[in-house]
Amino acid sequence: MTQEDLVFFKAWFDKYCRSFYSSDIEDQKNISLKEQHTFKVCENITAISERLSLNENQMLLASTVALFHDLGRFPQYARYKTFRDSISVNHGLLGAETLQEHETLRVLSPDEQEVVIQAVRFHNAFSVPKNERDEIVFFIKLIRDADKLDIWRVFVEYYESAEEGRASAVGLGLPEMPVYSEDVLASLYKKQIVPLASIRTLNDFRLLQLSWIFDLNFTPAFLLLSQRQYIGRITSHLPQTEVIHSLSIFLKEYVKTKTSTLS
Ligand SMILES: [Fe+2]
Repeated sequence: MTQEDLVFFKAWFDKYCRSFYSSDIEDQKNISLKEQHTFKVCENITAISERLSLNENQMLLASTVALFHDLGRFPQYARYKTFRDSISVNHGLLGAETLQEHETLRVLSPDEQEVVIQAVRFHNAFSVPKNERDEIVFFIKLIRDADKLDIWRVFVEYYESAEEGRASAVGLGLPEMPVYSEDVLASLYKKQIVPLASIRTLNDFRLLQLSWIFDLNFTPAFLLLSQRQYIGRITSHLPQTEVIHSLSIFLKEYVKTKTSTLS
């Protein structure tokens, strides 16, 4: 693909987003949130890709994947007024279908189209699919890392902001209670990703977000996580107990092992 193709995709995305703009302040806040998220994920994927020394074509493909990864969020919100996939639709799948329906990627080669479609489709899957070809798996891993880094930003800003300024759909409507579930905490010590279905409170959701570090793939992503201090910033919004303090140390140690080994 070429630089011109990326310029075309950016203009297409811009027009598509605008078609979902709303005069309702609440709705517009949620739509803007996803638009801003997209731009930040584009920046993240470029930062990771540069550190992985990708070639120019791979860099352009990575940017395209990032630009379109959450395309499904816009029709999802328009139809269901929520970002909760479990009560609406799988937004990765919807994004992939939207790209196909509009033939947005027609200027790319069939192989490139497949990379983008599959990366969008699986960016939010519980785990990385094993039966895809290597190039596709690589881009799926890349977008998952770039996406998580910005989802952490969105949540940290949400927790750190005043209630009036918050985009309502971010907290998934979970109750802010001073408790968390023991089984959710146990998953983290097993280095397992917490399934969304198992969470009951906003604190469980914070623990779930922390568990995503066990799904990060690339060293540059661990470095960005550590530079942006997301572990400390999320745990500071959990109950300030000895248990959470120990957890924070455990997670930071894990990240340290990931940034001091490999490339
Ligand atoms: Fe997403």
